[in-house]
Amino acid sequence: MKKNIGPSLALYPVPVIVVGAMVDGKPTWTLVAHAGTVAHSHLMVSLVQAHYINKGIRETKRLSVNVVDESWLKEADWMGTVSGHKTDKSQAFAYTMGENGTPLIDEAKVSIECEVDGNYELEKFDHFICKILATYADEGILNEDGKISYHVFKPVLFEFQTYSYFVTGGKVGDCRKMNQ
Ligand SMILES: Cc1cc2nc3c(=O)[nH]c(=O)nc-3n(C[C@H](O)[C@H](O)[C@H](O)COP(=O)(O)O)c2cc1C
Repeated sequence: MKKNIGPSLALYPVPVIVVGAMVDGKPTWTLVAHAGTVAHSHLMVSLVQAHYINKGIRETKRLSVNVVDESWLKEADWMGTVSGHKTDKSQAFAYTMGENGTPLIDEAKVSIECEVDGNYELEKFDHFICKILATYADEGILNEDGKISYHVFKPVLFEFQTYSYFVTGGKVGDCRKMNQ
């Protein structure tokens, strides 16, 4: 028997990311879980409009997505605890500017540069629709085909119901070969 627990955020867990952007010429960082893939070319990032980082994203039309793994989870969590409105987060990470003008966290093994194509405003959130411009991956997590190996790279997942972090587990199947 399934019980109706009402409208809830149950499409979880998802990889948690630190979004980076430039605000007034300095980097700032915000932890985000409401994000996902749109089409084969774009990402969507859902950010409360009152957050500090939104101003920079609206002005520069650029952001970076830094995928969190356990090695820097503690630092990432802090980016979801303090706001740039009160605390200068520009020194929180060593970073490198990407080819498209976004700050990329050095510790992140996967960083994605995006250009904002549109903004769907809903319920006091900005939903930035972002074209993926470049993906930077640590060579240590690439397989022999040059693709990210999720046996090696373990993104941290976040889930909303109990506010907990998880890591990805083992492989359970080969896609589109499950019925052979
Ligand atoms: C695990 C976690 C996930 C979060 N996900 C989001 C999110 O998806 N969207 C959002 O607007 N805020 C999210 N937040 C809250 C912001 O990260 C937090 O309010 C942050 O301090 C805002 O920083 P800023 O004002 O410097 O931009 C999340 C916080 C945590 C701890």
